[in-house]
Amino acid sequence: MDFQASTTSRNIQPSATLKLNALVQEMRAKGHDIIGLAAGEPDFNTPAHIVDAAKQAMSEGCTRYTPVSGIPQLKKAIIDTLLKDKNLLYENKNILISMGAKQALYQALRVILNPGDEVLLPAPCWLSYKEMITMCSAVPVPIHTTAEQGYVPDIESFYEKYTDRTKLILINSPNNPTGAVWERKILKEIAEFAKEKNLLILSDEIYEKMVYGDAHHVSIAAISKDAKERTVVVNGFSKAYAMTGWRLGYSSGNEKIIAAMDAYQSHAAGCPNSIAQYAAVEALNGTQKPLYDMVQVFNRRRELMVDLINDIPNVRCFEPKGAFYVLLDISPCLNMKCHGTPITSDMDFAHLLLAHNRVSAVPGNSFYAPNCLRLSYAVKDENIVEAMKRLKEFVFSLD
Ligand SMILES: Cc1ncc(COP(=O)(O)O)c(C=O)c1O
Repeated sequence: MDFQASTTSRNIQPSATLKLNALVQEMRAKGHDIIGLAAGEPDFNTPAHIVDAAKQAMSEGCTRYTPVSGIPQLKKAIIDTLLKDKNLLYENKNILISMGAKQALYQALRVILNPGDEVLLPAPCWLSYKEMITMCSAVPVPIHTTAEQGYVPDIESFYEKYTDRTKLILINSPNNPTGAVWERKILKEIAEFAKEKNLLILSDEIYEKMVYGDAHHVSIAAISKDAKERTVVVNGFSKAYAMTGWRLGYSSGNEKIIAAMDAYQSHAAGCPNSIAQYAAVEALNGTQKPLYDMVQVFNRRRELMVDLINDIPNVRCFEPKGAFYVLLDISPCLNMKCHGTPITSDMDFAHLLLAHNRVSAVPGNSFYAPNCLRLSYAVKDENIVEAMKRLKEFVFSLD
């Protein structure tokens, strides 16, 4: 059969890590002990009390379609949480529950953007943003930041990238892949800029609970009444409650945008998973101890990984303050050779590190972080120690 994919789908970039993942699988099948630092999910199981709530929901027959925007009990739990954690007051009409933060983000972009609209995208950033924006026939406009800036943009760069096609600002703090946590000052400046230029804001706050040391998460929606009006906040259960496979996220924001997203979801997906929604009520209303314990473990692993990296020549990293990733700058290794093969990019580095020293990590290029690797510390301490030992051996082997 002759098949010509649609223009939109032809424009989607296949994940740069697919080849790498295929190599990981091939090597594992041959018995190699690969340490995977590529995962974007907690290595913890969903806490037992949340699983129990799901079991109870199933045995009570809560297994049918729910309202498209979610069950009232979960909306109430979300509204209570937003008020308690961020002092944001919302009503049911401001909340939409979706199948993961990913779907929530895509739907927000879908209802906000027209073809040709531009989205200001502070970078490095999660790799799906660029593809989702492109899937809306809109244009991602990256605002590049450096480790020296703490991966926090300055407001002047927003003015520089602004055009009369700019419609939206997409931000993510705590950030994947940098681990930067943005302070109130820059969020306030962005909120004022958005007001001046009449732009909408999409704020992905999925890592909000994962902040360390003296870092503190601030939601841009809590900056002012105006910021709240023009912001859609997306959040989810995947990271904080180790529920990646349950597929549940939510959006809060302006009722008109939420209503448009609700209509979109009603045809594109229907209601979110009923059982996951009952489990999520327990996640928000039940004990938060497993979350706090997990964050403590991540904090310890973060310090461990950063300390070990600081002991390796020719690589360096920004000390992350949130999420569970370290962005490793490998630029001093560029143009060096690994057993005769030149390293010309982060992709080469990732491949050679995997092939020779059996550590997998995600090349930074797809995050707008060229010459970097994203390392996840959502793995056991002993794997961090062994992976950093292997990384060090790899770097020493370069000439
Ligand atoms: C920044 C960011 N936003 C959203 C998501 C998607 O989360 P969910 O599992 O809720 O779809 C991820 C997952 O890796 C992420 O890193």
